Amino acid sequence: MRPIVEVRPIVEAAAVSRSYGSRLAVDDIHFALRPGELTFLVGPSGAGKTTLLRLINREVRPTAGEMWVAGIAAHLLKPSRIAELRRRVGVVFQDYKLLPRLTAIENVAFALQVADLRLSDEQARERSLDALEAVGLGDRGNAFPHQLSGGQQQRVAIARAVVAQPPVLIADEPTGNLDQDTAWEIMDLFEDIAAWGTAVLVATHNVEIVTRLNRRVLTLVQGRLVRDQPAGQTGRMAWLATS
Ligand SMILES: Nc1ncnc2c1ncn2[C@@H]1O[C@H](COP(=O)(O)OP(=O)(O)O)[C@@H](O)[C@H]1O
Ligand SMILES: [Mg+2]
Repeated sequence: MRPIVEVRPIVEAAAVSRSYGSRLAVDDIHFALRPGELTFLVGPSGAGKTTLLRLINREVRPTAGEMWVAGIAAHLLKPSRIAELRRRVGVVFQDYKLLPRLTAIENVAFALQVADLRLSDEQARERSLDALEAVGLGDRGNAFPHQLSGGQQQRVAIARAVVAQPPVLIADEPTGNLDQDTAWEIMDLFEDIAAWGTAVLVATHNVEIVTRLNRRVLTLVQGRLVRDQPAGQTGRMAWLATS
């Protein structure tokens, strides 16, 4: 049965390509992401996963096609308006990218400052603490990154990415440096964040987690989107183990 209310996409790619010189890193891709949806992006090294994520936050510009993000035409965007787009897209990296001289709470608060929400210092601190609590680190706000484990640092990075409540979250191999138990904890967080209504897109090589979580999976091979498998089809994913 069709749902009565169709949720409109928050990210839409239409015939998007990106080339570097003669190399097509992303080749004529179409997809849409909806609020509240957790989607995995898989494919071999060099398939174009990172490029695709960068197209969403306009770190790279499409060489063809249209990329719409939270109502903004990323493909047409003037450099002076890129910040506006970036405020709508939280980003999580494999290597956390925390500022080493700032505490956990200061790292998170820094993102609020960049988001320019005109909060008082007190409000910013409170919201940052809320975000740290949401990722299970409410008691480590005063720790510096080097005092935290890799998994804890990634939690801080996730708090930083969501503190300004962006409608879209992208993560590039977020568990690539973590052991499997910790990877599960991080993926649980992405499920929570999607459940709050965010569209979450996670590039990963973690076949076990992708298979078991049973969410939507986009597969890239040589820049092409060769498969867009809806959530709930784990049984049909034997191909993943060999990709
Ligand atoms: N800045 C760049 N300059 C030139 N080529 C690039 C650049 N970024 C990526 N590429 C090329 O684009 C292709 C896709 O890369 P990438 O998006 O990093 O794939 P993945 O993240 O799936 O490993 C690769 O062939 C890579 O060498
Ligand atoms: Mg990559």
